[in-house]
Amino acid sequence: MKKLLLLVFAAILVLSACRRQSGDPQEAKWDQKADSVLKLMTLEEKIGQMVLYTSDWDVTGPTLRQGYLEDIRNGHCGNIFNAHTAAYTRKLQQIAVEESRLGIPLLFGYDVIHGHKTIFPISLGESASWDMAAIEKSARISAIEAAASGINWTFAPMVDISVDPRWGRVSEGAGEDPFLGSRIAEARVRGFQGPGNDLSDTLTVLACVKHFAAYGAPQGGRDYNTVDMSERVFLDTYLPPYKAAIDAGAMSVMTSFNEYDGVPATGSKYLLTELLREKLGFKGLVVTDYTSINEMVHHGVAKDDAEAGLLAINAGVDMDMQGEVYFKYLKKQVEEGLVKESQVDDAVRRILKIKFKLGLFDDPYRYCNEEREKRLVYAPEHLEAALDVAKKSMVLLKNDNHALPLKRGEKIAVIGELATSTRDLLGSWKAAGDWNFMRPVLDEIKAYNGENNVMYAEGCKKTDDDRSGFAKALGISLFADKIVMVIGEDWEWTGEAASRTSIKIPGVQTELLENLSKLNKPVIVVLMNGRPLDLTRENELADAMLEAWYPGTMGGKAVTQVLFGEYNPSGKLTMSFPMNVGQVPLYYYAKNTGRPIYLPNDKYKSKYIDSPNEPLFPFGFGLSYTSFVYSDIKLSSSELTANGNIKATVAVTNNGAYDGEEVVQCYIRDLVGSVTRPVKELKGFEKISLKAGESKTVHFEITPEMLSFHRQDMTYGAEPGDFQLFIGGNSRDVKMIPFKLLP
Ligand code: NOJ
Repeated sequence: MKKLLLLVFAAILVLSACRRQSGDPQEAKWDQKADSVLKLMTLEEKIGQMVLYTSDWDVTGPTLRQGYLEDIRNGHCGNIFNAHTAAYTRKLQQIAVEESRLGIPLLFGYDVIHGHKTIFPISLGESASWDMAAIEKSARISAIEAAASGINWTFAPMVDISVDPRWGRVSEGAGEDPFLGSRIAEARVRGFQGPGNDLSDTLTVLACVKHFAAYGAPQGGRDYNTVDMSERVFLDTYLPPYKAAIDAGAMSVMTSFNEYDGVPATGSKYLLTELLREKLGFKGLVVTDYTSINEMVHHGVAKDDAEAGLLAINAGVDMDMQGEVYFKYLKKQVEEGLVKESQVDDAVRRILKIKFKLGLFDDPYRYCNEEREKRLVYAPEHLEAALDVAKKSMVLLKNDNHALPLKRGEKIAVIGELATSTRDLLGSWKAAGDWNFMRPVLDEIKAYNGENNVMYAEGCKKTDDDRSGFAKALGISLFADKIVMVIGEDWEWTGEAASRTSIKIPGVQTELLENLSKLNKPVIVVLMNGRPLDLTRENELADAMLEAWYPGTMGGKAVTQVLFGEYNPSGKLTMSFPMNVGQVPLYYYAKNTGRPIYLPNDKYKSKYIDSPNEPLFPFGFGLSYTSFVYSDIKLSSSELTANGNIKATVAVTNNGAYDGEEVVQCYIRDLVGSVTRPVKELKGFEKISLKAGESKTVHFEITPEMLSFHRQDMTYGAEPGDFQLFIGGNSRDVKMIPFKLLP
């Protein structure tokens, strides 16, 4: 601690003498503080700040480095990830502060993606709530719990757009849409960093936008695979959520594993300097993904790690996650004049500034308070919020003959391994979430409906083909009024390094469902999975289907409350659910093509000979126990001027028997452009609640900015002409009205 005080004192002394100029006076203040420490550092110590190693508490990548404690002590490692709890981070922080020469405190990073201890639904599930306040609150609580457990940096939000459900990491994102993805990115940044982006507040953590850039488009949906897309698609579709997160104040960015336009992102000066820093104005720190500097050797753009390190520093990478490349080679490269020391200084300044902003130089142990940890982790209001978000994230995909909601006291047969699993409820990236703390779906259904009214048989496992449990499942179902079958994917089948070539329900779960459906009783399928699945067969067999995703710590209760109508489902899909894997990539903002399917000739048009073009469930789709009708759209004017706006109005009525919530969605189509334009693009949405019988009017303001895109000459803006505006409860079932943008 003594050393730290000395450092801070030195910092104050040099503060006034520091002449460093920065455009932004606020930033200049932080620059000066950082420079006051930078001045005291040897080159080796500077490089130590540019190093991030994993502890051995969690494994999130292919390599582990032994001896990281010694590295901290020697000033060779200034940042740690995958270490948590107030006690353990305090122990590591003590080594940095008390035992290293300068006593510079450590950053502690962790993948707090959808919760730290209290786990919320996987991010794709949360996005289906379309509820920005709920999503922000989820990130807020995740930050509070993580910060109470010693963490000051989360590797989130993950904002990668993806249109390919084969890719396991779609579970971590917010789906296929850039507009919705951007709103969610902002909400998550606000949640993690707090509404004022005041990192010194110990209830916040530093956010890290990832994976920059275009990581969500690996060819064939295979994780870590090549990405190749036009600049236009990148700028119009993939970039917006990163930009939104940065504009919302996210102060760190993680590079991606993939290449963009032939250059791996970690070595791309275009991405990390020209676009990120110069165009988007990002001022925070850039960290690599796990060993992604080294991986540039495998990519074939560097002959060895040392050369890869040069690419990274020259591209603008400040911190090397786990790669040991900066640690091993950077000092020599500076000494030999291959890298300027000022480049190192710039990177270290950015890192130190974050440490100052987090208040670590005032009190390095501010995140390491065990009493606070006990009080905040699993706080009752956190569990309450997790239950709320879990319910809001669930999407009712089908509900024939009012199979749902279940009625209390009905005899229910519960089938499926997933009904008794707690680990699966957490999904991938469960951070410090503890599945022993939770109750599975079966226990919650029993607690709600009475033990005597619930029978259970596993029937089959999630993944293997053992049918020996079928007989028992069929047997108990004979005595039931309704059958609830919980099916889906093992949690490890989604997330990182979990790509699939089939997107069907694994194992023999569907076969058991086929058998159960022959009993002529209502069969309700509850789905737990982390990606859009091909549910064509299940949709034929089940009377009702509820997409529950991996709903988190309170998932069992949330499923129960939705099934029994204690909560009326309101979630809407944020990725299209294909009819089969052959349709992939499938997304609602497709182009019309020159031979669209509606043309009269039979053969020569853009279609499959063995499948419809449409998804099984479109983007934005989700049912409710009630129903909503939309009036025709009214426009304040059918002509929009270059600096003006017009107002679109629609009345939505709940004409069913239950109170409910509806996500009113507004889409636009630009009919003629200098480049081809999507058949629809989401431009606004509002989630409203309506009592049974109630009507509400919803307005959307349409501005030229909403019509903007990268035109043929790559300038950004709108083009005058004819447009269509659509409003509805999903991307398919909409009302339409035309309007014009005047020159
Ligand atoms: C690799 C993943 O791609 C990234 O999302 C994660 O933050 C890091 N590992 C650290 O665990």
